[in-house]
Amino acid sequence: MARIWRPLGVIPNQVYDRALRRLPLPPVTFAQVQLTGQRVGEVIMVPFGAAHLLADRRTGGRKVAEAVDLAVRRGADLVGLGGLTAPVTNGGMVLRRRTDVGVTNGNAFTAATVYRQVEELLGRAPHGRVAVVGATGSVGSAVSMLIARGGDAAELLLVARDATRLASLAGRIGGSIPVRTTRQIAEIVDCDIVVLLTASAETVVRAEHLAIGAVVLDATQPRNTSPELVRLRPDVLLLDGGVVEVPGLRLQGGSIGLPDGLTYACLAETLLLSISGHRGHFTLGRPTLDKVDEITAIADRHSALGFRPAAPMSFGSRTAVVTTSGVVAA
Ligand SMILES: NC(=O)c1ccc[n+]([C@@H]2O[C@H](COP(=O)([O-])OP(=O)(O)OC[C@H]3O[C@@H](n4cnc5c(N)ncnc54)[C@H](OP(=O)(O)O)[C@@H]3O)[C@@H](O)[C@H]2O)c1
Repeated sequence: MARIWRPLGVIPNQVYDRALRRLPLPPVTFAQVQLTGQRVGEVIMVPFGAAHLLADRRTGGRKVAEAVDLAVRRGADLVGLGGLTAPVTNGGMVLRRRTDVGVTNGNAFTAATVYRQVEELLGRAPHGRVAVVGATGSVGSAVSMLIARGGDAAELLLVARDATRLASLAGRIGGSIPVRTTRQIAEIVDCDIVVLLTASAETVVRAEHLAIGAVVLDATQPRNTSPELVRLRPDVLLLDGGVVEVPGLRLQGGSIGLPDGLTYACLAETLLLSISGHRGHFTLGRPTLDKVDEITAIADRHSALGFRPAAPMSFGSRTAVVTTSGVVAA
């Protein structure tokens, strides 16, 4: 099993971008992954900054393919895509013809994890109105379908920039709750819970967009919210989304910005597939609910190892926060 990642949180994005635009660096093995003391894989870094990757998807896609080649040379039979390496390869779809290695974008387990976090928050949300920003994406579409299937939200607002894709998602979403679509981020202002799943190098959700006491569940990498939001809006709770507890997990030689025992849900999907002996591709493009249910069942079988959403954190910190909406993160 191998992993493609960029050491988010280690080097500021702008510095990383400027340096990497000038230096045509090859992908490198960045850290070893150990699970309960056994070496189970490696993290491979794609040396390309977020803004550069999104602005030049063709070159970005080529860099990701080179990283997959490196993983294969190092003996990997499964590669998980992390950070923006999935969006830049259309959720891994551009790698679907590869027969030398299985590929997964990790987004089925990410969607399952984010949905479990939303369910938890819904129990305390005053009005039950949820916005998914980035709803038409790979993770966003699956999370939106899970919320609609779950039926616990009072209303679901789907937000993205492309109206055609929004209408198509709303048409096939099913479920029993009212669903609205919008291209205007300002419309999230009446939502109690905002789930952020955009793929952008910019700040997408800002202080002026949010209702009093709103909870923002931000699963983006790199973050599409700024720590400034917490300072400007002390009433708002900004929680990290898509982080999973796997107590026996250690990275040796490098950090992906999380302490030992915690990891991103997409890396957790790759681990789950690896330890369950999966062969071939798993999640490519947008995950179906069947894929989400399949990876959830695999996680349940390995629950002795963890694979559950981490306790609430904000920007990696577990400081206790109480908001006017009454949500407590300890
Ligand atoms: N925590 C984890 O383990 C984990 C796992 C997987 C992914 N992620 C993160 O989750 C995010 C989404 O990944 P993905 O693979 O689902 O990406 P994706 O398939 O490219 O989807 C991105 C979505 O965001 C929308 N979008 C982009 N920029 C926007 C903007 N400025 N305003 C509103 N909507 C915008 C896109 O639609 P339009 O282009 O139509 O706007 C699309 O709906 C990424 O940041 C990724 O790094 C985290």
